[in-house]
Amino acid sequence: MRRTRTAVLISGRGSNLAALLAAAREPGYPAEIALVVSNRPDAGGLGHAAGAGVATAIVDHRSHAGKPAFEAALQAVLEAARIELVCLAGFMRLLSEAFVERWRDRMINVHPSLLPSFRGLDTHARAIEAGVRIHGATVHFVRSDVDTGPIIVQGAVPVLSSDTADSLAARVLAVEHRIYPRALALVATGAATVVAEKVVLGAEPEGAEARCLIWPGPA
Ligand code: GAR
Repeated sequence: MRRTRTAVLISGRGSNLAALLAAAREPGYPAEIALVVSNRPDAGGLGHAAGAGVATAIVDHRSHAGKPAFEAALQAVLEAARIELVCLAGFMRLLSEAFVERWRDRMINVHPSLLPSFRGLDTHARAIEAGVRIHGATVHFVRSDVDTGPIIVQGAVPVLSSDTADSLAARVLAVEHRIYPRALALVATGAATVVAEKVVLGAEPEGAEARCLIWPGPA
C-alpha cells in the first residue's frame, strides 16, 4: 500500500503529533509521518518524533528576516522531504495567503472548538463564558483566514457546570486525539475532497461515524 508522505508542523508539546504517530504505526494506515517540523527548537513534541524515529527539522521563525523568508525555508524542508500533505498540530504561526494557497486542499489543521464558533485563542474559557452546552474540536482544510476552511471531522463534548477551562480543555484534547488521525486518513485516502468549499466524503465505510464523534458516546 502506498502511504501519503505527511509532515506535521508543531510549536509545542505535540500531543496531537503523538496521536498521529501512533495511528501511522498501525498496519494499513494510509499516511506516513515522514517529517516533523517545529518553529521552536525547544518544542516538547520533537521528543515524540525522535522516539518514533521520524525525521525532524527546526525552522525557527526568529532566525528569518520576516514571514516570506520563514515560509521559504519551511517550503524548502517540505519539498526536500517530498511531502504531499501537511498537518498543523498546535503550530502557532499565522501562515500567509501565498503559502496557504500553495498547499490548498493539502494542508489540514486541528482547532479546539466546534468551528465556526470560537476561532482564535482561549477557546475553552470563551465557551464557558458564552454558556454553550456543547463544545469540541474540528479538523479542517486550511484557508488563509485563521481557523476557517472546509470541515473534515468534528468531535463534541458536553460542557459540565463544574468545568474550568482546564478540565474542558482536557476533555476536548482527548477528542482531538481521536478525530485528527481519522481526518488525516480520510484525506490521505482521497475519501475527503473539497467541492464548493465543503468536504464531501466519497467512500464512507464508517457512515456518519467518519465525520463526527460524540464523546463519550452511548454506553
Ligand atoms: C491543541 O489543542 C490544538 O487544537 C491547538 O493547540 C493545541 C496543541 O496541543 N491549536 C490551536 O489552537 C490552533 N488554532 P498539542 O501540541 O499537544 O497538540
